[in-house]
This record gives sequence, C-alpha cells and structure tokens, in this order.
Amino acid sequence: MGGLVLGIDASTTATKAILVDAAGDVRGVGVAEYGYDVPRPLWAEQDPHLWWDGTVQAIRAVLAASGADGRDVEAIGLTGQMHGAVLLDRDDEVLRPAILWNDQRTGAACDEIRRAVGPERLVAITGNDALTGFTAPKLVWVRDAEPDVWRRIAHVLLPKDYVRLWLTGVHATDKADGAGTLLFDLAARDWSAEVLDALRIDPAWLPPTHEGPEATGTVTAAAADATGLRAGTPVVAGGGDQAANGVGVGAVDVGTVALSLGTSGVVFAATDAPIHERHGRVHAFCHAVPGRWHFMSVMLSAAGSLRWFRDALAPGVSFGDLADEAGSAPPGSDGLLFLPYLTGERSPHPDPLARGAFVGLTVAHERRHLARAVLEGVAFGLRDGLDLMVAAGMPAPATIRASGGGTASDVWRRILADVLEAEIATVDTPEGAASGAALLAATGAGWFPTVQAAVAATVTATPAAAPGPDAAAYREAHARYRDLYPALAPTFHRA
Ligand code: XUL
Repeated sequence: MGGLVLGIDASTTATKAILVDAAGDVRGVGVAEYGYDVPRPLWAEQDPHLWWDGTVQAIRAVLAASGADGRDVEAIGLTGQMHGAVLLDRDDEVLRPAILWNDQRTGAACDEIRRAVGPERLVAITGNDALTGFTAPKLVWVRDAEPDVWRRIAHVLLPKDYVRLWLTGVHATDKADGAGTLLFDLAARDWSAEVLDALRIDPAWLPPTHEGPEATGTVTAAAADATGLRAGTPVVAGGGDQAANGVGVGAVDVGTVALSLGTSGVVFAATDAPIHERHGRVHAFCHAVPGRWHFMSVMLSAAGSLRWFRDALAPGVSFGDLADEAGSAPPGSDGLLFLPYLTGERSPHPDPLARGAFVGLTVAHERRHLARAVLEGVAFGLRDGLDLMVAAGMPAPATIRASGGGTASDVWRRILADVLEAEIATVDTPEGAASGAALLAATGAGWFPTVQAAVAATVTATPAAAPGPDAAAYREAHARYRDLYPALAPTFHRA
C-alpha cells in the first residue's frame, strides 16, 4: 500500500495531475483542458468550478492511464495559476467569476492602492509595487465597481485553494500564493494588517497560511467518491505555480536561478531573506520552501517573440531551422537590436504600452540577422531582470537551470550563457509546477526531511552551455539595448 504522491496544477488552460512514486519517477500525467472568458477587452475571467471539475477528470485520467489505485496516494500537493480573485459567500457559493492574473482592468485600482498605503510603504511591506495582475487591485476594483458583490464576500481564495476547499472542506493557502496577492507582509510571511486596513479588506475573509509542505486538511468522503482517492489523505499547502515550478526545477536555495523560456520568460531566484528591489521592479514573493523567499522577473514575450517573428517573416520555417539561420549571423547581429516588448512588458518596465522594435537596421541586414537579434533581445531583457535582482542583494548565479520550449535551441542556449554570463543547465522535470507540488507532498508525507532533500534526490540538471569569448561584446550591446526603452517610451505612449 502507498508509495505514491499526487501533484495537481490548476492552470489557466488546464488542470494537470501528476503521479510520482517513491523513487521520484513519474507514473503518469492526467490533463483536463478548458478555456477562460474575455467578457471585455483586457478582462480575463474563469468559472472556479472548471478547476474542480478539471481536478476530478485529471485525477481519474492519471489513475486510469497508470493503472494505479487512488488509495495508494499518500499525500497531495496543490499548485495553480497565481493572483486570481475567487470570491465566496458565507456558504462558500461563488459570488462572481474569478478575475484572473492576466486581467488588465485594474490600472486605476493600482493607483488607488499606492495612494492608500503609500508607494514606498507598499514596496517595503509587500516587496512589490501594485501591478494589475495581482489580487489586491482586483479586490479594490470589486469594492468600487460591484458593491453588491463586495457586501456578500465571506471568503477570498486563490484558484488552487478553491480546489483545496472541494478536496478537504478547508479554507487555506500557502505563503507563496499569499505573497502574490499584494496583501502580504513579505518578512512576516503572513497577511499584512496595515495593507488590509488601508484597503478596507476584512482580515476574516482571508484563509490561514501555511508553509508549502505543511498539511492543510484531508480528503473528504465526498471528494474521495468523486476522485477515487482515499478519504483522509493529507493535502499539503503546495504553492503558487511559479514557486512550485521553482521546486520542480530545483531552485530552492540561494544561488540557484531558474529560467523558464516559454511564451513568456521568467527568471526565478531563491533567496534566504525577504529582500526586495527598492522600486518593486522585480517581484519578491515567499517561496514554497520554508525559510526561503524568491525574486522573479517576468518578460511577457520571450519565445513568444520568436513565434511572432516566424509567423510574420518566416512562415513555414521550423523553430529549429530558424535558430540555425540565426546562428549563421555574427554575435551582436552586426549592430541590430530588438526590443521584445511585443505585448507590453512586466519586468523591468511594468508598461502595458511598451512595444517591440528593431533598431539599427541597414541594407546589409538579412533575415538571419533579424532572427539572431530577436534571440539576443530576449536574452538582454532577461539579463535586465537578473541585474535588478543582483543589485538588490542576490549573488550573481554561476548556473541557471533552464526549462521551456525555447531552451531546445543550442544557438539560443549559447546566447543566453554569454548574455547572462552563467552556465545554462537543462533540467529533466516533466511538468514543472505539478512536479514541484508532488515534491512538496512527498516532503509533507515524510519521504524526505526537507524540500531541498527532495530536490537533491529527484531533480537532475545537465550542463548545456557555458559563457564564451563573446560575453564582453554582448555587455556593450546590452548597454545600447538598455538605452532604448527610455528613449522610445514617449513614442510608445503617444501611439
Ligand atoms: C505569476 C503569474 C503567472 C500566473 C499564471 O506572477 O502571473 O505565472 O501564475 O499561471
């Protein structure tokens, strides 16, 4: 009996369930897909029931595919999209669709939060500036725009914690997701009475917070019936998807930095103190690892920039061929620079109106130079985020653990090693966030004494590229790149 843990990731587009055995091997992955609603331009909402229905389907799918018995699952870890506002009444009925992390309606609410708390005080307490994606601005928006909903709120949860409610009947969250609300005292690792008071949010609405591997409750008889799991199975706190992914790829201790190169590009660095960037230009959240925090910078169009380039200028060319073509252009792309702000930007310029640009074109530039400039521009933007973290007191990393589709390209990996001036290693984690949630569950189940030990036993990083002689030239090109946003911002804002 026993010998399995389950990680569940309630993401924006699907819920995934990953089953991991005591050797750390993945026994299977179940997936249930869904969409989200855009009731108005820039809005993004989702019916919370999708996450629970998705969880039931994904668990049933992984149990069926692996032939495992749900009663052998010893512990469950939860992760999911961060920042979403799930509003419930006193009977736990959903009051309105959840407002998601990618919803952009809250620009004015962000200004109001800075005013109410004080802009410097806000960063000093929470570690972050007010961004439209975070939870607090969504609550302030509901307070002002939907007073009837506001009056009936009894509980505020984050998306994965709505799944927890259905699994265990318990209202709870973890420190990492809590910190992503902008209602957290980063150093105290709990809700900030001062911020809640300034925003007129009732502290009773918010759930107790727990460290990632701590048990928060157990599977109810009804949830056991629905899923095939055993009633009484512990459900650990888990973590928001970025912190859980940090666990999944092994970024759990100071000096380990992770880079995820998907549509967006995230640089994630574990820290051992609640340090923050003084203007909040990179996020500072609690980690899902007890006693750890993390920095995070988010570039909105990373591999997304290459996809745009391929679709617009090289239709039908595979990403591999395009990267090889870029590799045939010289480092520095003969002076051509690319700004990757194709969908606005989050770090280091929190500016929805920022735009992409090629700067320095001459008649000598061919498509291969443009392609290389895109790969280099994304690397420069990621370096901007890393530099802010180092300036805020984090040690410069020797190795960066890279995951995501973009890291398949050898050319891009070498550019990243040169520009970030660190070795790039790839990791074998199949489902970053869900794998991290499973490791938190395994730690909670007592398989490992610490999250660090769980990572050391199960996650392998393979060196894939080292900085070479081009690093110095890239430093000079990066300095020219950095001048572009301030120079072009007035143009972007006037368009
Ligand atoms: C993190 C963030 C996204 C969401 C989406 O700050 O906004 O990673 O969690 O999953």
